[in-house]
Amino acid sequence: MRNNLVHEGAGFLEYEIRQIVEHAYRMRDMGLQITWENIGDPIAMNEEVAPWIKEIVHGILNQNRSWGYCPTRGVLETREFLANQVNIRENGVKINPNDIIFFNGTADAIDKVYELVHRNARILLPAPIYSTHSSNESKRGGYKPLQFRLDPKNHWLPDMDEIRNIIRYNPQISGIGMVNPDNPTGIVYPREILEEFAEIARQNDLFLLVDEIYSHICYNGAKTFHLSQYAHDIPAIALRGISKEYPWPGSRCAWMEILNKEKDPNFSTYIDSILNAKMLEVCATTLPQLSIPQVFGSEKYPKHLKKRAAIFEKRANQAYEIFRKVPGLICHRPQGAFYMSVFFDEEIFHAGQKLPIPNPNLRNYVDQLCENVPGDKRFVYNLLGSKGICIVPLTGFATEMNGFRVTMLNTDDEKRNSLFQEIADSVTEFVNS
Ligand SMILES: Cc1ncc(COP(=O)(O)O)c(C=O)c1O
Repeated sequence: MRNNLVHEGAGFLEYEIRQIVEHAYRMRDMGLQITWENIGDPIAMNEEVAPWIKEIVHGILNQNRSWGYCPTRGVLETREFLANQVNIRENGVKINPNDIIFFNGTADAIDKVYELVHRNARILLPAPIYSTHSSNESKRGGYKPLQFRLDPKNHWLPDMDEIRNIIRYNPQISGIGMVNPDNPTGIVYPREILEEFAEIARQNDLFLLVDEIYSHICYNGAKTFHLSQYAHDIPAIALRGISKEYPWPGSRCAWMEILNKEKDPNFSTYIDSILNAKMLEVCATTLPQLSIPQVFGSEKYPKHLKKRAAIFEKRANQAYEIFRKVPGLICHRPQGAFYMSVFFDEEIFHAGQKLPIPNPNLRNYVDQLCENVPGDKRFVYNLLGSKGICIVPLTGFATEMNGFRVTMLNTDDEKRNSLFQEIADSVTEFVNS
């Protein structure tokens, strides 16, 4: 090429959740049968969408307008409905329908949020973090993400003093981002910590960005506590969607709730640039937006959420009981979303650890993958080659911490439990090999 076409941040586009699939496909071509345990798609994992939700969507499909474009911000009646839902929260920030902008999935919203921040302004993120956030933050300027650590030895909670220090010594930090409830750890941040984040943002003139795609999937004692309930007067953005709740990930439908836009002129101009960028794409998908007032507004919806939370609670507790017994592993009872991160005590890895893989081609492929990679990847690739189980290494979530993530999505109780048990046994086998 006459000039270099490659974006300076291209090397930061990492999405291990799908990248591992490429390796799994190669191994499948070598005759391996794969059990997929890597992706957070309830539909791919056989969850049946509730018939009453399907009926609503069928009805909307018959409305001609569901086939057309909608306003750039999104369907007005849906934004009115959602703004009202925000406004009835106790002691929360109030918004109007223009403070909501629809996107083609939360991933699209995430892309715009980071892309339109000034190149020299940074957003502080946790480690580990769902890598769509960290990759987008890094891609913008071609720099490594700036991160605070979630502590696997303390329920994956952050050290707030560490956060204050990072902010003090990095004046380019302009916002704090997080996912609550969290992917990949499964934690729900306690109320006091969320209030502390807001206080730190206030003291340092930062905005808050919270990915709340799992906000209505809380269990094991955790309760939904929305950003609008603790942002107070801080400029902030909450990201919400229907991918995980209906669940309808194929709808590519999500929205941004913008809080306190007018409290800061610079934040306000930044938000306007996000809306202008969306205008260039015309609008987000219309049909799923039209379904939201009917689905969220149905008397069946609270029961639907409660039922799903109870299902994930049961599965999370079963997974916890299996993994907590394995020497060398540290894990915590998840309280939200449908993931659990299992952390490897650093001491347990040494060179040469392997799981048996009789097929020489597969063995060779796995050994090549394992060259110069962290211990968790060596375990995950060996597990894939040896047992055909595809999970995601924790280092795929923008962290140097070693571990792996499992999901609570397999609907077959027996298969799910025996799968978790097989992973747990494989850890012991790998460590002692
Ligand atoms: C934390 C988080 N944010 C965003 C997404 C993507 O959501 P969407 O389907 O709305 O693009 C996911 C998907 O797994 C996720 O886990």
